Amino acid sequence: MINRQKGCHDIYGLEAKKWQYISNLIDSVCQKYHYEYIRTPIFEASELYHRGIGEQTDIVTKEMYDFKDKGDRNITLRPEGTAGVVRAYIENKMYGDSNQPIKLYYNGTMYRYERPQSGRDRELTQFGIEALGSEDPMLDAEVISLAVNIYRLVGLKGIKVNLNTLGDKESRDRYREALIEYIRPHIGEFCEDCQTRLEKNPLRILDCKIDHDNEIMKKAPKITDYLNEKSKKHFQEVKKYLDLLDIEYVENPSIVRGLDYYDHTVFEIEADIEGFGSQNVLGGGGRYNNLVKELGGMEVPAVGFAMGLGRLMLAIEKENIQLPIEEGIDAFVMYVSETEKDYATTLVQELRMSGFSVETDYLNRSLKAQFKQADRLHSKFFIILNDEDLKENRIQIKNNQTKKEEKVELDYILYYLDEEISILDGHSDECDCGDCGCDHCHTDHEEDDIDF
Ligand code: HAM
Repeated sequence: MINRQKGCHDIYGLEAKKWQYISNLIDSVCQKYHYEYIRTPIFEASELYHRGIGEQTDIVTKEMYDFKDKGDRNITLRPEGTAGVVRAYIENKMYGDSNQPIKLYYNGTMYRYERPQSGRDRELTQFGIEALGSEDPMLDAEVISLAVNIYRLVGLKGIKVNLNTLGDKESRDRYREALIEYIRPHIGEFCEDCQTRLEKNPLRILDCKIDHDNEIMKKAPKITDYLNEKSKKHFQEVKKYLDLLDIEYVENPSIVRGLDYYDHTVFEIEADIEGFGSQNVLGGGGRYNNLVKELGGMEVPAVGFAMGLGRLMLAIEKENIQLPIEEGIDAFVMYVSETEKDYATTLVQELRMSGFSVETDYLNRSLKAQFKQADRLHSKFFIILNDEDLKENRIQIKNNQTKKEEKVELDYILYYLDEEISILDGHSDECDCGDCGCDHCHTDHEEDDIDF
């Protein structure tokens, strides 16, 4: 037997329905916030990630799926979405679009060669947004609020927003020097990774899991003491807009992010759920005002974030959240004879084309077994074809909930099903209020009715 690769998943059945529910929710929320869907390739030139994410990062040094294609090109399976979106932005000259800023979202698989464990996969799915073309701190807050609102709409309670700023390059350079100077005399007490990070990427020492509790780190200089006026103002305004949007956050100076492209705002959203495990960062992001230029474009400020959907699913499971997933079909068409089967073939198609979800038998089951199958599929109606009825242009229909059985004229069947299903869904013809809670109103207004 050939097994799936480590750190990868087969998603099917009820679990697949949950993923689809979340994807639909994401589409609907992004539409409200006016982010447009973008799909970029799953593989890109390796150089994109080397230049974009940073040569010294764990992703680039240890985790990329790199290979040479048959044309001897260096290719990498995307480890994240931002670099690809920025490449697409530059290549497709989106900066010239009259609608600015450009607000994009994606939802797709990424690949990281990590040691698999709960919440850490080699094939992972990320939903991410990127807003390019504005340095307004209101947009930083909007990005964070979109992320938080997705978690709120799913029903997650245990989330915590950790917020920090890395300032602009000038502030960061000053801070970097101060940090190196402070840590250098004690570097022997730090882990091996941090010893190499000291000169190359000292800020990453701040979020090292091993040295996190080191007494020396507790007294380390803080970035907030090194911010220039512009960076201070940006951070203050982000916080002001978050307060206006009623988004709770904790200022956490150890948030520095694992990718090198950030400046100013950085944030991570953490699962604050008992027993969640060590991979508890549900999503993260921040501003990256230099990345477009770094990848060959003009100077374009940008901000974005991404969340791991696998980790979101784990959080949903841990908090025992029941997603409102619809099970069942509208009707199951049953038959026995060949002529009934011929009729079933066209009837099933007609019903499906008219918008009903319909199933039939493909296994030569007895009528009794077809009833059982229809029941297993939670079919609302059973349509039982028989030659006698068909000669008289009629069809027998049974309501699986009320058990009412009727013979219905063939010409009348679509109308009949439509009416009966809306009665089952609790809708009455008089109801046009839009918010009484009946299933009809719920269906009709679901799209506009997201209650943040
Ligand atoms: P990131 O922090 O590397 O950021 O990843 C974002 C999220 O993806 C993480 O918080 C986590 O939920 C999920 N994730 C990452 N690696 C794994 C893994 N191996 N297994 C399961 N889930 C994982 C980025 O990727 C940035 N591109 C975010 C961003 C967008 N910044 C600005 N725009």
